[in-house]
Amino acid sequence: MSQPLDRLRRQMSAENVDAAFVSDLLNVGWLTGFTGSSGFVIVTGDQALFLTDSRYTIQANEEVSGFEVRWYQRPKTFEQFAGECLADLGISKIAFEPSISYATWQSWGSKIGGVEWTDSPDLFKPLRMIKTPEEIALIRDACGIADACCEYLHGRMQAGRSEFDIQLDLEFFLRRQGADIAFDPIVVSGPNSAKPHGQAGDRTLQEGDFVTLDLGARKAGYNSDITRTFVVGQPSERHREVYDQVLKAQLAAIEALQPGTAAKDVDQLSRSILAEKDLDKYFGHGLGHGLGRAVHDYGGLSSSSTDTIEAGQVWTVEPGVYIEGFGGVRIEDDVLVTDSGPELLTHYTKELLVIG
Ligand code: GLY
Ligand code: MN
Ligand code: MN
Repeated sequence: MSQPLDRLRRQMSAENVDAAFVSDLLNVGWLTGFTGSSGFVIVTGDQALFLTDSRYTIQANEEVSGFEVRWYQRPKTFEQFAGECLADLGISKIAFEPSISYATWQSWGSKIGGVEWTDSPDLFKPLRMIKTPEEIALIRDACGIADACCEYLHGRMQAGRSEFDIQLDLEFFLRRQGADIAFDPIVVSGPNSAKPHGQAGDRTLQEGDFVTLDLGARKAGYNSDITRTFVVGQPSERHREVYDQVLKAQLAAIEALQPGTAAKDVDQLSRSILAEKDLDKYFGHGLGHGLGRAVHDYGGLSSSSTDTIEAGQVWTVEPGVYIEGFGGVRIEDDVLVTDSGPELLTHYTKELLVIG
């Protein structure tokens, strides 16, 4: 596959954008490989500038190739510097990313003279949604760490240990693998597990609890995101009924990730399976999201999604049932779409595992 810069230029052409100003660090990183916290890119049909400040001059020269690197330092302001670069390139009209804040838009508009800022469709969405083989390899690595973390934690959980304590084990494990913690992990037990995004507290695991872990590793800029639900002691019939139906919905939704399918239909399928046991009323969030440089990357599997499933996309599939006072079950995997259908990137077991 061609380089990110070539792909961006083709997308700019398709959208009639002559010049683009890239400021979202996830897009900057995707385009240039830069990993610092201050980076901007100006792209035209034949020019490509990488802008940073004096803190990152050495790093930018090490990480960024194929772009002319320019930097500024105080007392010059970013707006003065960006204005000079745009004037040097003879740019009078440039597209900003739809994700910039209103405050940024106002500041650039008022402080960077001589240029018209225009909005454009999100140039990066169609590019970042289709992963290259290199990106897929990195997501696969991050998924392997998440799988290993689940395995490790299964051996560490027991009645009497607190959610906090398990969360600490979780974070240490990810760090020891050389990974970053992709997002605040969720460790919830018993009634707390009915909160889809509950926080770990000092509650200790007790017989009859569902325990849900939702965690992810980030390595080399790419994320994983996995959820597994366990039970403390022997599961009751109700535990099994709820768990099995969530699993059935998840397996069917994964199988439905075929190129050409509407994302909203995959979401609907999972709901119709939960409805077989009157559990759909307990499933309030979307079925999943794109995964990549962001945990919640471009794309959604939800009733309002206009996305279409395509080969090269990576999705989470994470149906859940949350019953207040009883507990909740969510099962989440990361799935690559290939020309021949879905391929799981997370592999940790989905049997209902018992914590002793
Ligand atoms: N960890 C948040 C999510 O699964 O989307
Ligand atoms: Mn998750
Ligand atoms: Mn997720």
